[in-house]
Amino acid sequence: MLKCGLSLLLAASALANLPQSQSTLNDPSSNYGSLLTLSESAQLLHLHRKLVEIESITGNEHNVAEWLASYLRNNSFTVELQEVSPKRHNVLAYGKKRDTTVLVTSHIDTVPPFWPYYHNETTHAIGGRGSVDAKGSVAPQIMAVQSLREKFFDDLSLLFVVGEETGGDGMRAFSAWEERPKSYEVVIFGEPTEGKLVCGHKGMLGFTIRIQGKAAHSGYPWLGVSANDVLLDALGALHHLRESGLPWSEKYGNTTMNFGRVQGGVAANVVAETAEARIAMRLAAGTPELVRDLILDSLSGVKERSEKLGATLEVQWGSEGYGPVDIDCDLEGFETITVNYGTDLPNLKVDQGVRRYLYGPGSIQVAHSDHEALTRRELERAVLDYRRMIVEATRMDKYQSRRQEERMGM
Ligand SMILES: *[C@@H]1O[C@H](CO)[C@@H](O)[C@H](O)[C@H]1NC(C)=O
Ligand SMILES: *[C@@H]1O[C@H](CO)[C@@H](O)[C@H](O)[C@H]1NC(C)=O
Ligand SMILES: *[C@@H]1O[C@H](CO)[C@@H](O)[C@H](O)[C@H]1NC(C)=O
Ligand SMILES: [Zn+2]
Repeated sequence: MLKCGLSLLLAASALANLPQSQSTLNDPSSNYGSLLTLSESAQLLHLHRKLVEIESITGNEHNVAEWLASYLRNNSFTVELQEVSPKRHNVLAYGKKRDTTVLVTSHIDTVPPFWPYYHNETTHAIGGRGSVDAKGSVAPQIMAVQSLREKFFDDLSLLFVVGEETGGDGMRAFSAWEERPKSYEVVIFGEPTEGKLVCGHKGMLGFTIRIQGKAAHSGYPWLGVSANDVLLDALGALHHLRESGLPWSEKYGNTTMNFGRVQGGVAANVVAETAEARIAMRLAAGTPELVRDLILDSLSGVKERSEKLGATLEVQWGSEGYGPVDIDCDLEGFETITVNYGTDLPNLKVDQGVRRYLYGPGSIQVAHSDHEALTRRELERAVLDYRRMIVEATRMDKYQSRRQEERMGM
């Protein structure tokens, strides 16, 4: 308890020591070439560059985790590697204390294909695979935590996970880790959010529809059962559901349903024996259970008809899915948005009352593209913003009163 009170005082004094950088930040017409000191800026760009240069497409995170662990150790962090699967490790780093108030986290894997790093000195554009998603968050997070713990308080941890881009096995492994540190009070996640605080994101649900029919010569279609015909029927029913029957909310808009991959049959002159459709949904309201029921209801007529014909229709759920994720965004001085992409937030199990924030430089619009890039200024601003977030989040009245209640045994 005492330690927490102490870190609050130190955090408040940290804020008092930041106005210089903040006045630059608050003045958009500022001519400052850099938002950081020259040496901080150089260190940030170096760190970001090294991270982007090491290819780390999901499944191949070994080298980047090794490099990062070495870098953090050299910068006087205590580092632990958690094996998620062979040659794939989460990187956990902290100072002297293992159980800390704040956790700052992002992911070190990227989507394919690899694009080499570049830095255009004229435009200050910095690009390459992962330059935005999410090494654009990782480098500023390290810089922010490092400077705060050197100067002010050593109550911060960093966690960099593998596998975020393909379902979050890294973060789920961390949640399930028997030796994981005690629950944090504040968790700050890094993903490209254009430098804004995210107040929430849609949920996810994925599934595949599989049809088994009976092949025949196309001249004698009555001798077979077309799996493609059944699939068309099924997609028609889902299309109807999508247009009118899915839950929505003011905050997140409509639930969407993407018929991402549809395939069936083998040739124009053969009645299709098999067909399937892969579908991804983004939930704007409700729970995965509720939406699963809506889908099965809407397909029940199709299923009945197809069984009469001698075909089978099967729905296979990709994973358990999750509903919309509400995120704290109550820090002073930040713009706020909601987003439509998934993150590791639902994969990190935290206690009730733990505050979670989501922030990062760069735009999701370019994140998975061949022109993934951001500017030096965005990276630098992220360092200041992460610092400000950590300080604000640990000195908030809410946080203090909650600590007080705990102290008084309420
Ligand atoms: C850490 O320091 C060692 C010893 O000086 C050096 O060999 C290694 O390259 C450094 N690691 C990084 C990531 O810079
Ligand atoms: C930097 O960007 C500018 C503007 O897009 C372009 O004209 C120039 O060729 C680029 N420089 C390098 C070295 O790629
Ligand atoms: C949601 O769907 C309704 C009905 O299809 C449509 O009229 C509305 O514009 C959609 N809202 C958004 C935010 O896309
Ligand atoms: Zn990401």
